[in-house]
Amino acid sequence: MELENKPALVTGGAMGVGRGIATVLAQHGARVLIADIDGKAAAETATAISKAGHMAAATTMDVREPDQVEAALDALEQRFGPVEITVNNAGATSRQPFLEMELEFFEWLIRLNLTGVFICGQAAARRMVQAGTPGRIINIASNSGIFGGIGRAAYSPSKAGIIALTQTMALELAPHGLRVNAVAPGPIKTESQPASVPDEAFTSRMSLERFGTPEEIGETVAFLASERASFTTGHCYTVDGGLTVSGIKAG
Ligand SMILES: NC(=O)c1ccc[n+]([C@@H]2O[C@H](COP(=O)([O-])OP(=O)(O)OC[C@H]3O[C@@H](n4cnc5c(N)ncnc54)[C@H](O)[C@@H]3O)[C@@H](O)[C@H]2O)c1
Repeated sequence: MELENKPALVTGGAMGVGRGIATVLAQHGARVLIADIDGKAAAETATAISKAGHMAAATTMDVREPDQVEAALDALEQRFGPVEITVNNAGATSRQPFLEMELEFFEWLIRLNLTGVFICGQAAARRMVQAGTPGRIINIASNSGIFGGIGRAAYSPSKAGIIALTQTMALELAPHGLRVNAVAPGPIKTESQPASVPDEAFTSRMSLERFGTPEEIGETVAFLASERASFTTGHCYTVDGGLTVSGIKAG
């Protein structure tokens, strides 16, 4: 297995896309610590992965709190070994109209989605550099970091910021042997998907005309974490059924 025994931190891995990422990394042999603000759900997901015969554990962690991030990296090290793979997935897809958006909401979402990636990415990278580990960091962006969308005046810039942060991290960390990439998912079916927007608003604009699954994001993350992606760094990999490249769908 290509990720055999590699200690991996997956933030926000209790549910949704993060659960798919944690599950697939573990299936590929990684030893995964799910670090999530919802410790109970994280423990349930880790138990499900373990019952399937793979290696996973859970801890409660808020990506906005540097002390909690350090504690989670310590927990990973004690349980499975020094961090080799970090997946910065935790985030929220909350939306509000631009004209009514409160400053508090904007700052809350940037802090969670973008600053959280900075905090976890920096903490993991410092440990990898110190240990001389050829670490892999994968940051979960979004199609909404590539183009705008209704209600996304905070969400889109948080995700565009992740793509830009990934490029600079890749450049500065390459001399230390680290690779840093982003994955930009398109519409993925999860439990927390708001029912207010009809599926067709998304699928009608996609080449593949369907939602993706959390596991399909997990497979791309596993590829980027593996040596099969040895010449790839600073890249933003869209996994979106063709949403970002679909133009007029008639002719
Ligand atoms: N679902 C999609 O269609 C989609 C599309 C593009 C990008 N994304 C991105 O994928 C990531 C996961 O999205 P999702 O749809 O699975 O969301 P989700 O709400 O289903 O899951 C988010 C997870 O993050 C955890 N979390 C929330 N705040 C946290 C914090 N402060 N610290 C640690 N953990 C925290 C939650 O407890 C939960 O387990 C996000 O970064 C999101 O922007 C999702």
